[in-house]
Amino acid sequence: MCGIVGAIAERNITAVLVEGLKRLEYRGYDSAGLALFNTEGALERRRRVGKVAELERALAGEPLAGRLGIAHTRWATHGAPSENNAHPHFSGNDLAVVHNGIIENHEALRERLKGLGYVFSSDTDTEVIVHLLDHKLQELGDLTTALKATVAELHGAYGLAVISAKQPDRLLAARSGSPLVIGLGHGENFLASDQLALRQVTDRFMYLEEGDIAEIRRDSVQVWDASGRPVQRETVQHREGAEAADKGEYRHFMLKEIHEQPSVVQRTLEGRLGQQQVLVDAFGPQAAELFAKVRNVQIVACGTSYHAGMVARYWLEELAGVPCQVEVASEFRYRKVVVQPDTLFVTISQSGETADTLAALRNAKALGYLASLAICNVGISSLVRESDLTLLTQAGPEIGVASTKAFTTQLVALMLLTLAVGRARGSLEGAVEAGLVEELRRLPARLGEALAMDRTVEKIAELFAEKHHTLFLGRGAQYPVAMEGALKLKEISYIHAEAYPAGELKHGPLALVDSDMPVVTVAPNNELLEKLKSNLQEVRARGGELVVFADREAGLDNGEGTHVVHVPHIADALAPILYTVPLQLLSYYVAVLKGTDVDQPRNLAKSVTVE
Ligand code: G6P
Repeated sequence: MCGIVGAIAERNITAVLVEGLKRLEYRGYDSAGLALFNTEGALERRRRVGKVAELERALAGEPLAGRLGIAHTRWATHGAPSENNAHPHFSGNDLAVVHNGIIENHEALRERLKGLGYVFSSDTDTEVIVHLLDHKLQELGDLTTALKATVAELHGAYGLAVISAKQPDRLLAARSGSPLVIGLGHGENFLASDQLALRQVTDRFMYLEEGDIAEIRRDSVQVWDASGRPVQRETVQHREGAEAADKGEYRHFMLKEIHEQPSVVQRTLEGRLGQQQVLVDAFGPQAAELFAKVRNVQIVACGTSYHAGMVARYWLEELAGVPCQVEVASEFRYRKVVVQPDTLFVTISQSGETADTLAALRNAKALGYLASLAICNVGISSLVRESDLTLLTQAGPEIGVASTKAFTTQLVALMLLTLAVGRARGSLEGAVEAGLVEELRRLPARLGEALAMDRTVEKIAELFAEKHHTLFLGRGAQYPVAMEGALKLKEISYIHAEAYPAGELKHGPLALVDSDMPVVTVAPNNELLEKLKSNLQEVRARGGELVVFADREAGLDNGEGTHVVHVPHIADALAPILYTVPLQLLSYYVAVLKGTDVDQPRNLAKSVTVE
């Protein structure tokens, strides 16, 4: 989604803004721009459609220097990607705004402002903000006061950065529904929608909270909360993670992140396993007491995180004996739900800022759930702040838009949850828990072995490069793994991919199977294997080409039209985590063969902060 960077300093900050935008590139965008208070005392901007590199080229041709500025990467919501619609937006020549989010009452405001004589030069909802701010500034005389009056009239979601040539001693920020963080320097300060954008200039950060307005000067920061009271927000220091925005030896972030899985899974397990059991306190001090009361679980998430929830449903019902429902957040939030007594409400999110997931959590609070638990990768996210309990995945920053290591660490966290809930309720045998704890300890090594399949999968990928459609099949907890495999392939290679529970094959999709439609299957050696084998026969009988990721003991081997890739043996309960890896590698290598933009696939965004 959109990204914001801002700076106020005594040096030229053009390079800081451009570098910040580059570090936000992974979030997905279609145009970029920046505005600076230049050395002649005027506001000047450059905007370009496309990548930040286009903006850089424009700046090389027509350089821009200044000590106060704001910059933005846009992901179009209102108005097509074009230079006119790119941010920053101006009102007159002396006021500039960049905005993340959506202003819902933009039409009414636009009509009112037109009536006041303002002329609009874009199709965006954002432009109403800058003209309304200009109107308030003329009325009230002071930029900070005018911004407070402006946001009071906005409905919807916004993260805003504002500068004015009339008061160039300050950079203003406002947050409601879209995250903002202030980066603290020495005699200079910065602003961004994600701290990653500022890691090259500082490691000290101040996170704004919902409803906050901040006045950032070179050597001071003043924050007001939603009720207008001056407040002090905590300063946090991040010492690690600056290297995360670097691809290292890898060609793409996605490949780097796939290969990081053994170490991030290890980190996600650290401090959470006792000798023979999961340490329930890892979920928060009240977790043991709450989990003992759990009679149902409702999971809500989007995209890849939703698939993690789908796997967890199999685990929670089979191992912990708890009924579990899973739903995508965009449906759940608008549906009238019937809440069973003592239901734990679980959200899963890499970013912790996905608009639909957050809204679902906020709605759930009024519905009488037992408690809310967030499984999330970002400790300072809105989702974590607003949930009763949290379990952080320790995947580190994930830059590739297609989620990989976030998914496998979410699965690990959900297995920990399953074991903790099962024990607290007395519905899981100690020996079963001890066995799975032991298997979890071995999981990082198993993942390392699965990554050694890299070259084999690269070869198999050649089968897909010229194809337009594929089918992914799985049974049981491997069905959501197949769904995630299909999602990865479509996200980054643009090949149409659909996932089906293998048993449903003959109820429709079999009609599509021919030699142009490869069928991918995950086949661990479990009690569903024989059923799955029959489904594979059904495909072969129609001339369909099969790619099967199978346990060595599964009795499946290469044959005509059947390509079998052996996956290391693993306890059945953990198989969904392991079998995800070859599917990630498959989509990666298909995309590389097709020459698509692996880390930033077209039209997609990393963190979807709008509905
Ligand atoms: C976007 C991303 C997906 C992600 C989904 C949910 O669609 O491209 O990779 O799975 O949002 O994001 P979250 O941060 O809530 O896990």
